[in-house]
Amino acid sequence: MWRHLGVLTIEAIMSDTLTITDNRTNKTYEIQIRDGSISAMELRRIKENPEDFGLMTYDPALTNTAACRSKITWIDGERGILMYRGYPIEQLAKNSDFLETAYLLLSGELPTAARMNKWKHNVTVHSMLHENIKKFMEGFQYTAHPMGIFLSTVGAMSTFYPDAKDIFNEDSRKMQTLRLIAKVPSIAAYAYRHSMGLPYVYPDNDLSFTGNFLNMLFKMTELKYQPNPVLERALDVLFILHADHEQNCSTSAMRGIGSSHADPYSALTGAAAALYGPLHGGANEAVLRMLAEIGTVKQVPAIIKSVKNGERRLMGFGHRVYKSYDPRAKIIKEVADLVFAVTGKNPMLDIALELERIALEDDYFVERKLYPNVDFYSGLIYQAMGFQPDMFPVLFAIPRTAGWIAQWEEMLLDKDQRITRPRQIYEGPEKRDFIPREKRR
Ligand code: CMC
Repeated sequence: MWRHLGVLTIEAIMSDTLTITDNRTNKTYEIQIRDGSISAMELRRIKENPEDFGLMTYDPALTNTAACRSKITWIDGERGILMYRGYPIEQLAKNSDFLETAYLLLSGELPTAARMNKWKHNVTVHSMLHENIKKFMEGFQYTAHPMGIFLSTVGAMSTFYPDAKDIFNEDSRKMQTLRLIAKVPSIAAYAYRHSMGLPYVYPDNDLSFTGNFLNMLFKMTELKYQPNPVLERALDVLFILHADHEQNCSTSAMRGIGSSHADPYSALTGAAAALYGPLHGGANEAVLRMLAEIGTVKQVPAIIKSVKNGERRLMGFGHRVYKSYDPRAKIIKEVADLVFAVTGKNPMLDIALELERIALEDDYFVERKLYPNVDFYSGLIYQAMGFQPDMFPVLFAIPRTAGWIAQWEEMLLDKDQRITRPRQIYEGPEKRDFIPREKRR
């Protein structure tokens, strides 16, 4: 049984090593410090006796465990910095578009004009869904949550592309990457049209990635859909902001499932399921429902009080990594102004602004470093653009697909990685003998 009452003295004696004295045995160990971390496996050398398993770390929710080395995304939570492959998010949001940013995340570099043209062409020609996928989607109830439809359909795609199992074949990985990036907007749009009882709209190859997405969502009887350029650009910026966010819950799910060598569609289904939860990508939907429930600016102090009493959480606030303003939320506030100039202001904006104003002055939020996160304002924009709240997590999943695939591929090619398999501290019963049913009390 793993219950040690011993005491460890830990001392960093040089800049690159850590000396640990195990006070149970008086033995001293020297452990290498590399990149601000120590290898957890080194602790296994620390034993009370030779039969002992060795020391583990206990880290529920993995709050202080680096589970991989990554070259994709960097977050400085204290200073509110986010970079993809070294490029600050503000510069990408200003100068790039989603497809280019996806290329950057996946390949490591921004594309030349020729490479960008090829990438765009390849994504465009893969946007159609197999007709049987449409039939599969038709089986859902009209009331089905679009995120449930989305993640089930991505999982079903695994059966359409059995070549995806060849995960160590680079060409196969490239093909699945194209299919996924190109087809997730089509799946999302069909999920939306299905829930509205509207016929599906086929992709229009003349339009941009986001312009075509708007076409598949909102085209009615017109012969050619013309996306509003402000909304098309706003969606591009929102997609850039959501494209990756290092080792969050859904990305960890993607890596974890992928580590068993499942195909990328199956792994991405698990990642999307993790995103669905209200503490992660489902928070944007939860924010809108919360704002609707608050109803008026006058009710804001009451909701703040109930949050402080521990009765509820302020959705769209707080983050595991950011302990200052989420840089994505700052950019989203600017996008909101542009969108509202076209669509008219979302009446719930005033409630959100008042919530933020009070929260940022209140000791409860200040002491806990709780600031608005990416989900606080994104829902207001999506709603103004005509989306129902239950589409919001799906809108998060489309761009995050790029990040998930980039992280999945990095994990597969990382020689340090093996099947994910955490340890536990067992607290259940000691060994006991089976009692026949008739003799049990
Ligand atoms: N409202 C009120 N109190 C909060 C909130 C909140 N939104 N978030 C954290 N706290 C409090 C929490 O009660 C705790 O207080 P105490 O120390 O008194 O117990 C303290 O702040 C630390 O919270 P925690 O739960 O230990 O923090 P965490 O890092 O485990 O959770 C979080 C991070 C994002 C799940 C959490 O802040 C939360 O539930 N926020 C609301 C949901 C949300 O907006 N999620 C979207 C996150 S951003 C999009 C994405 O990348 O997923």
